[in-house]
Amino acid sequence: MFDLPSLLAISDLHVGFARNRELVQELRPRHEGDWLLVAGDVADHAEQIVWALGLLASRFAKVIWAPGNHELWTRADDPVQLRGVARYEHLVGLLREVGVVTPEDPYPVWPGADGEVAVAALFVGYDYSFRVPQVHTKEEALELAYERGTVCTDEVLLHPDPYPSREAWCDARLAYTQARLEARSGCLPTILVNHYPLVREPTLVLRHPEFAIWCGTERTADWHLRFNAAAVVYGHLHIPRSTVYDGVPFEEVSVGYPREWQPRGPAPQPRVIATTTR
Ligand SMILES: [Fe+2]
Ligand SMILES: [Fe+2]
Repeated sequence: MFDLPSLLAISDLHVGFARNRELVQELRPRHEGDWLLVAGDVADHAEQIVWALGLLASRFAKVIWAPGNHELWTRADDPVQLRGVARYEHLVGLLREVGVVTPEDPYPVWPGADGEVAVAALFVGYDYSFRVPQVHTKEEALELAYERGTVCTDEVLLHPDPYPSREAWCDARLAYTQARLEARSGCLPTILVNHYPLVREPTLVLRHPEFAIWCGTERTADWHLRFNAAAVVYGHLHIPRSTVYDGVPFEEVSVGYPREWQPRGPAPQPRVIATTTR
């Protein structure tokens, strides 16, 4: 056991895969006071999402979740056939029951080594604004992706109901989230946790650059500065790494699919985002 608790982060557990389920079963805190941030893509099926996060919540002092696109898919073989906002709200209810903190709950405060920080799990989607340079509209961007065979499954399984489009849902989430962050208690520094990167730069290394339209929105480009972020945690890209933008560390903490992480070596572990002195 470590002497002091840490704020840890992981994402893209994709527990539909047996090897990733084992990885979650083996995942334990290093200190009884450790918190775990889970930045989305836990699983595609409601039952598996609740199983994984419930197990982690029984082990870590606090588990804080931000949804990924996979949680929001409505697959034909999931007994939960709710779509869009109704599915999201249903998951929030189930996860609260097992003690998980959701983007609809007050932001927990971490007693950081440099002072208190508000840990804000966000649910902000994408609006097709991360387009490649020669493309100017969502329609052109989608056309290019269809031509190249790199269309995200969200187009089929992630329903925005009752919003008319995924970008309209994103627009509503941006307004809601911005207001919550502006009203955070004591204007504390933040640790921002979102499935998608809040800035575009991490998507520039995608093997298929036209896929970036499903990876975030230009409208969060200054949030790490505006909301005084000590760190930004994200996943989705399945390109785990640490980068710094404007002096703020951005941590991509994805596990990804077994075929992605197994060739790299041992099972990926949560990354330390912050420590404490007490
Ligand atoms: Fe993922
Ligand atoms: Fe994702």
